[in-house]
Amino acid sequence: MKRIKIFDTTLRDGEQSPGCSMNLPEKIEMAKQLERLGVDIIEAGFAIASPMDHKSVKAIAGAVSKCTVASLARCTKGDIDAAWDAVKEAKHPRIHVFLATSDIHMEYKLKMTREQVLQRITDMVGYAKSLCDDIEFSAEDASRSEPAFLAQCFSNAVAAGAKTLNVPDTVGYSTPQEMGALITYLREHVEGIENVDISTHCHNDLGMAVANSLACVQAGATQLECTVNGIGERAGNASLEEIVMNLRTRRTFYNADTGINTKQIYRSSKLLSSITGVAIAPSKAIVGANAFAHESGIHQHGVLANPLTYEIMNSAEVGIPQNTMVLGKHSGKHALREKLESMGYELTDEELEVVFQRFKSMADKKKNITGSDLESLVLHRRNTSMSTQSGACRLIGHLINTSTSSSLPTTSYVKLERDGLFLEDVAVGSGPVDASFTAINRMLGINIRLESFSLNAVTDDKDAIGEAIVKVKAPNGETYTGTGLSTDIIESSIRAYVNGINKMLEDAGQTEPKE
Ligand code: KIV
Ligand code: ZN
Repeated sequence: MKRIKIFDTTLRDGEQSPGCSMNLPEKIEMAKQLERLGVDIIEAGFAIASPMDHKSVKAIAGAVSKCTVASLARCTKGDIDAAWDAVKEAKHPRIHVFLATSDIHMEYKLKMTREQVLQRITDMVGYAKSLCDDIEFSAEDASRSEPAFLAQCFSNAVAAGAKTLNVPDTVGYSTPQEMGALITYLREHVEGIENVDISTHCHNDLGMAVANSLACVQAGATQLECTVNGIGERAGNASLEEIVMNLRTRRTFYNADTGINTKQIYRSSKLLSSITGVAIAPSKAIVGANAFAHESGIHQHGVLANPLTYEIMNSAEVGIPQNTMVLGKHSGKHALREKLESMGYELTDEELEVVFQRFKSMADKKKNITGSDLESLVLHRRNTSMSTQSGACRLIGHLINTSTSSSLPTTSYVKLERDGLFLEDVAVGSGPVDASFTAINRMLGINIRLESFSLNAVTDDKDAIGEAIVKVKAPNGETYTGTGLSTDIIESSIRAYVNGINKMLEDAGQTEPKE
């Protein structure tokens, strides 16, 4: 059986997509989760893009040891030097250089002739190779490139030392038959291709990214590039969880599998969604809330008689919490740790303490705490006051006054602690959330705009935990995502708002309260 390498680009192509930006601690947390998931390569960023990108690639290179860590670079010395500087401390570093090879890109974007492109590949792959042994070369817009010229580009890259040749469908235009045929053609026409990995990187503009990637496996690709939840430029990239579960579920059909620990799939998907605030569609394959739900009576009857009637995968296989054993207010730290470990979460003593405190206060309000509740507590531990990564403000409490009469305003009193100082204010608003956010803005003396706000129930019961996600826009135009959790949905909303503000303050490095 063929072993397919998984090249995860959630932190590079994925992070480039609107609304998916992450700060440094979030990127590191995601990278560690990708390592637990068992991806072979993490593309940690595009080091030359900004000092922040450089810093994050470097930090990720130091934070993971099992995976290869790659940085993207255009075919220029400056890009390659920045990429190498960022990944050189990694246990397994890789430089990923790319250059467009389609006529339209060469003429209008690069303004280079075919000869110049061929020479640049030889020179820059060679230069990258002089710094790092593991070089990947991507021919951007490969699927719209002239096959014979593309084969020449790849032959030059192999001769200059590339160990992986990536064939992107950059604009998501191809069909599975075309992608498969292109891989077959390249295998026949690229010199030395039998000694290197053949990779593909498919975008989802026509909804074909996963199908195209799988067709490439059938034609001989040995590496697939993808992202968690399929995030990425425009309509996104091929979704990691869909690729992996296709290969796992139809192993004998593809005669191929990956090294992914599928039990970590759901957790990776949830973590990314809780960091970025980008919700997962309920009908999303593998990780959507309805992916394993059976609504129709006929289906339910069939599944009860034999799950195989309607289930081709088991939800436990992708790590969806089974909600069988529940904890309550009498459960201790030991039981909490055991339950979390059975769900695949191994926390340090400090992290466990943070989750345990939140668990205790939740257990005062909610009788049965399920696996899904615990999972949300773990995912939100970054946002609590006890977390080492928490920002400058902490919610102490709030009090809401509402009326059923539209002529009477809703008022909210909010008390925060900021760097040891207590701040409080009361504001009126069109509703409790509006009033609370107005009070917070005023007491902090900040001018931020609420871009979006959503609330979801973590479980279905009436004392369900509400998860609030806000996106706030700072005066400098940057957008920050904040998330908050509580059985009281106004409290989750305030927590989410404060979490977004803390990220903004952390970025601006301004933690001083107003005079
Ligand atoms: O879509 C694309 O072609 C890319 C390359 C840089 C690999 O993201
Ligand atoms: Zn891409």
